[in-house]
Amino acid sequence: MTSTAALTAFECSKSVRVSIIGAGNVGSTLGQRLVEKNLADVVLLDIAPGRPKGLALDLMEARGVERHDRIIIGTDNYADTQHSDLIVVTAGIARKPGMSRDDLLKTNANIVVKVVQQAIAYSPDAVVLVVTNPLDVMTYLAWQASGLPPQRVLGMAGVLDAARFATFIALELKVSIMDVTAMVLGGHGDLMVPLPRYSTVSGIPITELMDEATIQRLVKRTRNGGAEIVSLMQAGSAYFAPASSACLMVESIVYDRDRIVPAAAYLQGQYDLNDIFIGVPTCLGRTGVSQILELELLSHESEALQASAATVRQSIEAAQVLLD
Ligand code: APR
Repeated sequence: MTSTAALTAFECSKSVRVSIIGAGNVGSTLGQRLVEKNLADVVLLDIAPGRPKGLALDLMEARGVERHDRIIIGTDNYADTQHSDLIVVTAGIARKPGMSRDDLLKTNANIVVKVVQQAIAYSPDAVVLVVTNPLDVMTYLAWQASGLPPQRVLGMAGVLDAARFATFIALELKVSIMDVTAMVLGGHGDLMVPLPRYSTVSGIPITELMDEATIQRLVKRTRNGGAEIVSLMQAGSAYFAPASSACLMVESIVYDRDRIVPAAAYLQGQYDLNDIFIGVPTCLGRTGVSQILELELLSHESEALQASAATVRQSIEAAQVLLD
C-alpha cells in the first residue's frame, strides 16, 4: 500500500486514533506496540525529513507478517493528526556534550509547548500524555500550553520507574515478574520515591521478604535506572521499557480500563502539594486522570516526596523564564 493509500484508509477509519509527536526511538517503538497489539491506529509525526513516513511504511509492511489491520501513517503535518483520541508527546532532544541542564530545559520546553499547541488545535478533545524529559516539568508546560483541564494531561514516568523496581525485586528474589507490583512516587529524577511498603510479591510487602540493606540497594538502582542504561549504551537512552510503559497508559486511557498506576498528575492539595505535576498513584480512564489515590505515608516517605516536589517546582519556575 502506498503512503497515500494508507492516508486515505486512515481518514476513513473510525477506530481509536493515537498521534505520537516525535518519531524517535520511544515514539516509533510505541507506535509499533500500539498497532501490533491491535490497540489503535497511529499517526507518527516528526520534523526529521522523511523519517516518520519511512517508519510508517516499514510498519505497514510488517502487517503482512504480523497480521493486523491497524493503520499507521507518518507525517510532518499536524492536519493529519486531527480527531486523535490521545496525543503522546515524545518530541525533544537528548542532552549533548557541553550542554547545560538549562540549555536542555529551554530547548525541550520550547519544543513541547509548540507541539502541544499545534496538536491540540486539531484534536481539542484529546488526552495528552507527555514522555519528553525532564518529565514532570514538561507535563506542566504541556498542560499550560494545551488550555485543557488538568485531568486531561499527564506524564509517563511512574510506570517505568515502578517497572524497573519490580524487575530488580523479581531478579533479587528469583520470583516471576508476574507476581511483583511496585510503587514509585515523586518526580522522574534522582529524588524519585520508591515505596517498599507498597511494593509487593503476590500481595506480600517486600519489607517482609528482604532486609533493609537489600531494599536500599534496589531502590538506589531504580533511581539510577535511566542513567545505568545510558552508560551501557554509550549513545542514546532507554526506549523499550519507556515505550511499553506509555503503551500500558495509552491502553488504559483509550479503552477506559481504570488501571491504577503511578503517573505525573496535577495536584490540588493532595499530598500537601498544589499546582504541580508529579508522580502519584492515579486511575486512568477515557477522560485521563479520573482519580488520584492518596496513600498514607510515613514521615520519611512524605519528606522524600516533598523534597522531590521542591526540585520539580524549581525547574518549572526556571523553564517558564526560558520560554521564547
Ligand atoms: N516536532 C516534532 N518532532 C521533534 C521536534 C519537533 N519540534 N523536535 C524534535 N523532534 C523529534 C526528533 O526529530 C526525534 O525524532 O523528537 C524525536 C526524539 O527522538 P529521540 O531523539 O530518538 O529520543 P527518544 O529516545 O525517543 O526519547 C524521547 O522521551 O524518554 C524521553 O528523555 C527522553 O525526552 C526524551 C524523549
